[in-house]
Amino acid sequence: MATFFALTSRGLVDALRDELAELGAKNLEKEPGGVYFESNWATVYRANLRLRTATRVVKPILRFPAYKNEDLYNNIRKFDFTTLIAPEGTLAVEASVRDSVFQDQRFVAMKVKDAIVDQFRDKFGSRPSVDNDKPDLVIVVRAYKNEFHVSLDTSGEPLFKRGYRVGTGDAPLKEHVAAGLLRLAEWDGETPIVDPMCGSGTILIEAALMARKIAPGTLRRHFGFMGWKGFDSEAFKKELEASMALEDEAAVRVERALAKIYPNPLGEEASVAKEEKMRPMFFGYDVDSKVIKLAQANAREAGVDDLIHFRRHAMETLEAPVEKGIVITNPPYGVRLGEEETLKDVYRDLAFTLKSRFKGWSAFVLSGNPELSSAMKLKATRKSLVYNGTIECRLLKYDMF
Ligand SMILES: C[S@@+](CC[C@H](N)C(=O)[O-])C[C@H]1O[C@@H](n2cnc3c(N)ncnc32)[C@H](O)[C@@H]1O
Repeated sequence: MATFFALTSRGLVDALRDELAELGAKNLEKEPGGVYFESNWATVYRANLRLRTATRVVKPILRFPAYKNEDLYNNIRKFDFTTLIAPEGTLAVEASVRDSVFQDQRFVAMKVKDAIVDQFRDKFGSRPSVDNDKPDLVIVVRAYKNEFHVSLDTSGEPLFKRGYRVGTGDAPLKEHVAAGLLRLAEWDGETPIVDPMCGSGTILIEAALMARKIAPGTLRRHFGFMGWKGFDSEAFKKELEASMALEDEAAVRVERALAKIYPNPLGEEASVAKEEKMRPMFFGYDVDSKVIKLAQANAREAGVDDLIHFRRHAMETLEAPVEKGIVITNPPYGVRLGEEETLKDVYRDLAFTLKSRFKGWSAFVLSGNPELSSAMKLKATRKSLVYNGTIECRLLKYDMF
């Protein structure tokens, strides 16, 4: 057993803690940016394969105060990096510093790299080279108020990069945030979801992956730990197979959910099913036909296009495509797209559409701008704080009686 740290965006730490508990991680401890946990390597492989709300999983190795170059250099050398990669391997150092004597993160990264490669040189007479694209080992250094935290990145490419994105519109949600919204909305994995302003479809694609129990890590080929000495490929293979086996279990559940939504297959009651000969569980609309095409391509890449109906449609005239479901959406905020005044109309119209044509539904609206959400003139029954990048947002729940 060792200690690891899973990182996420602010607002999603509880969701991440729940996910880790479900995966069998022990001694969970929340921090503002993530969750510490204890586990063996098999659970770390599982976490990397299955976590939906994490951005990466790291293994903390050193913690020390440093005010001078020598402090930094000597402390880094207390950990034996030669146990992790061969001298002909590659490494990268990612550093960030805040409120510290050291102010230049490139300088810190260079100092750390020097200390590590000197260890190899002393032992083998040769040293690993730096590769910022596809290194075997990524060392993550964070300094805050002169306290250094050094860890090893077990994930490699950030976990939100699932690998299904062919393209996006202007302000896409990161995949782990979309997955986090579904958790915050306490979605049951079966109820139909409509996103009336779906952009490149992230929320619905994440929902479809959840419904099918497709572990996001099974869509990618590489994780950071694969380049380390001692990588247990047998244990990883077992975890990968176990993760993929979840999909069989989910197939039955999806069929049951679809049978509820479409009691008469391809019958009169479901216009989408009739017109397009599909039985979607998820419905995405956007005024922009370009992003709808991208959303369709993304869903195809993720292998869930048969569950999602994407169509160009203005939210103002949208009708509920099925009898019962929930709306989850991320309308434009005005920070990154468009102007505030014209956007107020969009929020007013959204409220009208929800009130008049989604009666009996719950709607979750991610808003990064309180002035815009208050233009809806609806009373939120729940508000959850969540960060979308650097933007402080609220996921607002409205019950449409
Ligand atoms: C912030 S983006 C959504 C991003 C999306 N969640 C993603 O991950 O790609 C907002 C979307 O709302 C769409 N939109 C704006 N006004 C609309 C309207 N009146 N009807 C439908 N879609 C609209 C925009 O075209 C844009 O794609």
